[in-house]
Amino acid sequence: MTVFISTPYGTDEGNFNDLPAHVWPRNAKREEDGEVTIAGVPLTEIAQEYGTPVMVVDEDDFRSRCRDMAQAFRAPANVHYASKAFLTRRIAKWVDEEGLALDVASENELRIALAADFPPERITVHGNNKSDEFLRLCVESHVGHVVIDNHQELAQLETVAREAGVRQDVFVRVKPGVDAHTHEFIATSHEDQKFGLSLASGDAYTASVAAIESEWLELTGLHCHVGSQVFDAEGFKLAAERVLGLYARIFSERGVALGYLDLGGGYGIAYMPGEAPLDVAAVAGDLLSAVQEVADELGIAAPTVVVEPGRAIAGPAAVTLYSVGVIKDVDTSFTTSRRYIAVDGGMSDNVRPALYGALYDARVVNRFLDGNATDTRLVGSHCESGDILVEDARWPDDIAPGDLIALAATGAYCYPMASNYNSFGRPPVVSVRGGRVTPMVRRETVEDILAREY
Ligand SMILES: Cc1ncc(COP(=O)(O)O)c(C=O)c1O
Repeated sequence: MTVFISTPYGTDEGNFNDLPAHVWPRNAKREEDGEVTIAGVPLTEIAQEYGTPVMVVDEDDFRSRCRDMAQAFRAPANVHYASKAFLTRRIAKWVDEEGLALDVASENELRIALAADFPPERITVHGNNKSDEFLRLCVESHVGHVVIDNHQELAQLETVAREAGVRQDVFVRVKPGVDAHTHEFIATSHEDQKFGLSLASGDAYTASVAAIESEWLELTGLHCHVGSQVFDAEGFKLAAERVLGLYARIFSERGVALGYLDLGGGYGIAYMPGEAPLDVAAVAGDLLSAVQEVADELGIAAPTVVVEPGRAIAGPAAVTLYSVGVIKDVDTSFTTSRRYIAVDGGMSDNVRPALYGALYDARVVNRFLDGNATDTRLVGSHCESGDILVEDARWPDDIAPGDLIALAATGAYCYPMASNYNSFGRPPVVSVRGGRVTPMVRRETVEDILAREY
């Protein structure tokens, strides 16, 4: 059976029973009886035991993407997993066991990493508005690097480090003015946004000099991040090139050769069958050669390139499983109608479609379907007409209440962005490996929600 799975950006022709390998977890499989398994575990069993919605993480997929990144960028330590994409203690453990470093962007992300016994010297700390308490925790727990976002923070960190009697390694976050071709909310390197210090205005240089001159700070590198879900690798190169100009200036004017160039994350993944993920191995090869070439031209030693991928490691590793509830045919004109399929989660567990117009590939995972293609919209159960998970699809018309639908590639920026809208409890998370399920996070209950009230 061929159906058309259409999106606002084009039409993908495909069989609804397929699981496109570049979108689904590496160990996902449609079995002969029509059921989908991940790492040998039928998703129906997980739904039965943990209820729906539930997030299922393919541990070996996650780990294999850590290794792919480490290989592409020459060493596990050069890859700082961006924990904002998805962090629990167990995930921090996987990252540690794979030898990667960790990037945290808030005090609580740091606390979770420390609670997982993640080696602090392999932690890099971000944030555009770090409190004194947060900076104190960084310094006192001896994190590897604090990434300085602004002049105020530089002075703050210097005071905190002096009080603690600790000399803190730092990077300065540079805004190289590169316009990444991605959604405005996730593009972070152009001038008119909140992160970092401008290269063009000279702010990044001034801050770097202040860090070099500080008795309590040790400037070891510069950082930039062009954006997220980036497919045009030229943006990474251009940013690297511009920031390397600052290395050259720092070297010629201050005699300091910085050891690291942190190029942030942003490696795009495929959410839809018609998309292709960024070829990280090829991009990394190109980027490393470009950095070497530019450094040679500038007459400086090439710094070690470090990167901070989040989505490209966590994103494809997980799916979110929902149960189908109400199915409603809605007239869209005198002659056409659309089928609305409602599931038991929605914008509280995955806000990305509502927030960014993000697209997802969804499939029924408990059986084969063979109905006729019909215009379909997958919606959640929230009191908001924008509570849409898949806006515009053509799916078989034999989807029925009780079927299980999985959204693929929900491993990044879903769980950490989940809310309690309509007082929904956030869903549980389980990981699967070698035919076994291990619970990771339990479902949030109304008792949890009530427990916070006075
Ligand atoms: C500084 C920084 N590093 C890394 C990342 C991770 O990006 P991605 O998940 O797209 O790889 C982000 C995302 O916003 C970021 O702001």
